[in-house]
Amino acid sequence: MRVNIGQIKEMKQKGERIAMLTAYDYSTAKIVDSVGVPMILVGDSLGMVVLGYESTLAVTLEVMLHHTKAVVRGTQNALVVGDMPFMTYNLSAEQAMQNAGRFLQETGCQAVKLEGGVSVAEKVRKIVECGIPVMGHIGLTPQSVNQLGGYKIQGRTPEAARKLLADAQALDEAGAFAVVLETVPTPLASLITRKISIPTIGIGAGNGCDGQVQVINDIFGLSDRVPKHAKQYGQVGELIRKAVSGYFEEVKSGTFPTDKQGFTMDESILEELK
Ligand code: KIV
Repeated sequence: MRVNIGQIKEMKQKGERIAMLTAYDYSTAKIVDSVGVPMILVGDSLGMVVLGYESTLAVTLEVMLHHTKAVVRGTQNALVVGDMPFMTYNLSAEQAMQNAGRFLQETGCQAVKLEGGVSVAEKVRKIVECGIPVMGHIGLTPQSVNQLGGYKIQGRTPEAARKLLADAQALDEAGAFAVVLETVPTPLASLITRKISIPTIGIGAGNGCDGQVQVINDIFGLSDRVPKHAKQYGQVGELIRKAVSGYFEEVKSGTFPTDKQGFTMDESILEELK
């Protein structure tokens, strides 16, 4: 049985920490799922860490649907959240409902995530009314990087802090089941966590959130740059480099493949061909 949003909300009530990770493909999702991580985000961060774009803005709905399908196929237990890309929910509530519906219908994921607080609360309410669970995302919202003037810490002024709290409360009231707080000062994230009823999932928001989310490439050592909020738990990039150079050397030297990797056949058939 997959984890559901009721169980995620219950984890906050029980004081159980919620771990979430991104995944973008079948094989990685399978590993994350097998470890027991309860929520997987197919983040539009894939535009940067998988596809090599400078921001998430170029990611399209079709690309997100494609990767979300692969992650769903690789999982049995985790709640899979599909990230709605830039301009696929911003135009109208109708557009937001239609595209959120495509995620659930076409990929089999269980929830969607979208960026924004008060400004998207009405859209969140409408999507939830369709029976689609929504995760909010406030603080540093990468789809607004041009508006924010870069990837900067959010909520440091009294006005910005008040706005962030209002955004979190608006999402809670609109029926979101959880909210990501990205790059927000630790004490502010802790205060928001205490003030709203739904779980806060932090990334660069300190240890006072109900849960944490990280971009998987950052934690397993396969990203160009490790952000300050991330910790590397492995060096997958080094392991891949070693494997690739071992293969490369053995092909060049003629030591790969050996008989062990080959296939035999009836010698008499070969005799007939001679
Ligand atoms: O796209 C993403 O991976 C995200 C997380 C950083 C929360 O939105």
